[in-house]
Amino acid sequence: MKVILYMATSVNGNITNGEENSDWVKKSDWEHFNKITSGSKVMVMGSVTYKQFEDDFPQKQALNIVVTNKPELLNLKIDGAIFTSKSPVEIVKMVSDMGFTQLALVGGEKLNSSFLKEDLIDEIYVDIHPLLIGKGKKLFGEIQGLFKQLKLVDVKEIGEDLILLHYRVLK
Ligand SMILES: NC(=O)c1ccc[n+]([C@@H]2O[C@H](COP(=O)([O-])OP(=O)(O)OC[C@H]3O[C@@H](n4cnc5c(N)ncnc54)[C@H](OP(=O)(O)O)[C@@H]3O)[C@@H](O)[C@H]2O)c1
Repeated sequence: MKVILYMATSVNGNITNGEENSDWVKKSDWEHFNKITSGSKVMVMGSVTYKQFEDDFPQKQALNIVVTNKPELLNLKIDGAIFTSKSPVEIVKMVSDMGFTQLALVGGEKLNSSFLKEDLIDEIYVDIHPLLIGKGKKLFGEIQGLFKQLKLVDVKEIGEDLILLHYRVLK
């Protein structure tokens, strides 16, 4: 099972501008997000990110897994979605047991950090916007003792002043 993370960030690593929205994310980023994540038939997101997309999942044709401990979300029945309180390791196992070979992790900071802490992320795509944002969530939160080496796979200019970095996480 390959786990890929795709995130839009500012140059200083913010994934939000302090508001719970993605209004600052450029259109060409969404196009690349769709292109890269469409290879994964499963998207996994934290409940805060889900709240942002609840009327319109980022990939409608994919199975959307929402991670939450809230009973009101765990009881929801929505076509194409699973609400679960499983741990990242258990989620990877569940998705693998369902026959999938790749999973796209799509945020936010807390869920990204939970997957990284358990060393479950294989590839990272970071779409760096030409912005410095002083407030908001980061790509990952603080993780004590983390020092991970990455291998650069590709660098692409995907729009005006917009760079897509693709890394493999060395295990
Ligand atoms: N720039 C981008 O590419 C991008 C992409 C995605 C999201 N975002 C932004 O990220 C922000 C949300 O990030 P966030 O860090 O606040 O929230 P998040 O990671 O989306 O969701 C975190 C929530 O998920 C639930 N959860 C359950 N089990 C968990 C586990 N093992 N690890 C982590 N969370 C678990 C918890 O909520 P409950 O148990 O209480 O439900 C937790 O508070 C949004 O504002 C969104 O706009 C940006």
